[in-house]
Amino acid sequence: MARALVQTQQAAQKYLAQGDAMPSFAVTLARLLGGRRTAVFCRKLLIVVSQVALIALAYYVSFQLRFEFELPGDIRRLIAKSFLIVILVKVVAFYYFGLLRGWWRYVGISDLVDITKAAASSSLLIYLLFFIVIDLNEFPRSVIGIDWLLTILVVGGARFLVRAYTEALEQHAGDKNILVVGTGREAASLVRDLRHSAESGCNPIAIIDEDRSKLGIKIHGVPVVGTFESMGDVITRYGIKCVLIALPSPTNKQVQRIIENCRSSKVEFKILPTLGNRINGGNVLGLIRDIKVEDLLGRAPVALDVEAIRTKLQDKVVLITGAAGSIGSELARQVASFRPTRLVLLDRSENDQFRLSMELSRKFPDLEYVTAVGDILDSGLLRDLFALHRPHSVFHAAAYKHVPLMERNCFQAVNNNILGTYNVALISRQFAVEDFVLISSDKAVNPTNVMGVTKRACELIILALRRQRTRFMAVRFGNVLGSAGSVLPIFQRQIADGGPLTITHPDVMRYFMTIPEAVQLVLQASTMGKGGEIFVLEMGEPVRIRDLATNLIHLSGLQPETDINLVYTGLRPGEKMFEELCLESEDTKATSHDKIRVFDGGFADFEKVKKWVDELSALVIAKNMGGIISKLQDIVPEYRPSDEVLSECDVDRHDVVLRRGMERTHLITALIDQEPPQRARAV
Ligand SMILES: NC(=O)c1ccc[n+]([C@@H]2O[C@H](COP(=O)([O-])OP(=O)(O)OC[C@H]3O[C@@H](n4cnc5c(N)ncnc54)[C@H](O)[C@@H]3O)[C@@H](O)[C@H]2O)c1
Repeated sequence: MARALVQTQQAAQKYLAQGDAMPSFAVTLARLLGGRRTAVFCRKLLIVVSQVALIALAYYVSFQLRFEFELPGDIRRLIAKSFLIVILVKVVAFYYFGLLRGWWRYVGISDLVDITKAAASSSLLIYLLFFIVIDLNEFPRSVIGIDWLLTILVVGGARFLVRAYTEALEQHAGDKNILVVGTGREAASLVRDLRHSAESGCNPIAIIDEDRSKLGIKIHGVPVVGTFESMGDVITRYGIKCVLIALPSPTNKQVQRIIENCRSSKVEFKILPTLGNRINGGNVLGLIRDIKVEDLLGRAPVALDVEAIRTKLQDKVVLITGAAGSIGSELARQVASFRPTRLVLLDRSENDQFRLSMELSRKFPDLEYVTAVGDILDSGLLRDLFALHRPHSVFHAAAYKHVPLMERNCFQAVNNNILGTYNVALISRQFAVEDFVLISSDKAVNPTNVMGVTKRACELIILALRRQRTRFMAVRFGNVLGSAGSVLPIFQRQIADGGPLTITHPDVMRYFMTIPEAVQLVLQASTMGKGGEIFVLEMGEPVRIRDLATNLIHLSGLQPETDINLVYTGLRPGEKMFEELCLESEDTKATSHDKIRVFDGGFADFEKVKKWVDELSALVIAKNMGGIISKLQDIVPEYRPSDEVLSECDVDRHDVVLRRGMERTHLITALIDQEPPQRARAV
């Protein structure tokens, strides 16, 4: 018996958790006895029976009200005579308006409107029937009006009662008092889900918002009790244990301020990431997470023209170079979600390719993809890949990117970035790829380092190919947060090691965006290009690296300079204090997307590009550093090589050898051109 009771209780809990509309012992029992089908039948039956009972009640009470609770005998007979017709008409009307099914716990205004319509139309029908069709003149007309009103009240009221009852059953006073920050859609979903989640152990008790006009309103029964200024007081007054930030697009300053308040009040804090395009109604509790440094960038969520991207990628073959890298792998993830026919992933890093393929198989079991381990410098491999898979779109992200490293590995930078891009671009043209997107960088603007100048040369290569069937375009942006070898993972490792955090200069600033955001915008830009454009992503305000470091230390629950020191190491060769996103002469224009600007990259003469690519190639083979740097200066006149690179050119004897060789050639030519000296006549 006890076991049966426990089973019944468990089934009821499961039933409630599934969100069924009418928690009833009958339905639960039916489930236990006869399985799901019987349960569904019982639930439907219960709804119909309860509706009929409520309609009948409303009808009977209407008469009672009309006759002030003293029903004469003939009226009793009239009720009995008309009862069946009235019930039948109303049941049909209720059925027509979909009121004989549905989930009472989710009853809302739209249901009330339907009930009103059903009651009105059935009353009208009854009126027509009684007074025009069967001429039932003794029927009191006012009863029809009272009945209409009572039907709405009784049927609607019962549903709202069920909703209130189920909500009360589910609500629980969790032991952890929660303060929610925000009053938007996110915050409302959060409050609702917290109130209904038995497992969370949380009790949303108060809300604050920056907007004073929201003060005093209630969201799912929780009052808005203050603004950001009064946050400290609210935390103390309501015994808050945890603050949940649920703002639609919190700015950097807002998040900082909230964190500071939480820290000084010594309470926990978490964030609900922006819901974006999430379908309303799902549970948001699983999305709550610790605040990450990305949240401090204060970047509003990107709104995408998803249809344009889908048209471009769905049922197409897409090839990504550098696919296993930070940007390439995110491109692979996002492209995969648009269901391409096939994804061709090219990268020479075998381990990273393996990791990526494992992830893609897990996340996109239906995705057809090819993992090609190979080098973009291997034109034979490229040709085979293109011939086999015939890609429609190419995203070219394979490159060397580390500024200080490339300053010391100039030949590798030129080889990999310039000659590699030339290979991929030319083969894309050969195989009539529809569009080719070069992932460029803000370092290509007024370059002061080898890495940056090679990226600018890559842009020139694609501009030289712009008059082709393939639409060649480039997308430029600043740093992405958290990419392999970038400042964020370095800082995180340094914090884990107990510090210090190394920063090149106290005032050095960089643009940052998150990798998913950058890739979303790359995909969006790729739908806009006609060929020859350079798209520039709007990077927002630049971030002081020192602030990034201190925020990260704070987020780790530590104090800068007390727990973790900051050490300034000086700018490295080729590094700038500030990065630019375009030259002054590059007149960028707005696009249909507010975070993407564009300018026409202009024309580059393909014959000239071909010539300098050949020359660079020869100079790389000859390991002629001086020759390479001066060639790069010819190609990109705004390039200013770093002192380190110039000093390496000084010890590079190729120039001297070349100069001497040329002098010797000139000398010999001059000698040959001269008249042969008159021989001394023999005496
Ligand atoms: N990371 C950033 O902050 C950032 C910002 C703007 C632009 N970009 C540009 O985006 C591109 C990719 O950057 P990332 O951060 O993803 O770099 P990453 O180092 O994480 O990825 C590059 C990938 O390319 C592969 N690769 C390099 N040379 C190759 C070759 N010859 N053949 C085949 N594969 C090769 C590498 O194995 C690596 O997996 C670079 O061109 C970079 O300049 C990066």
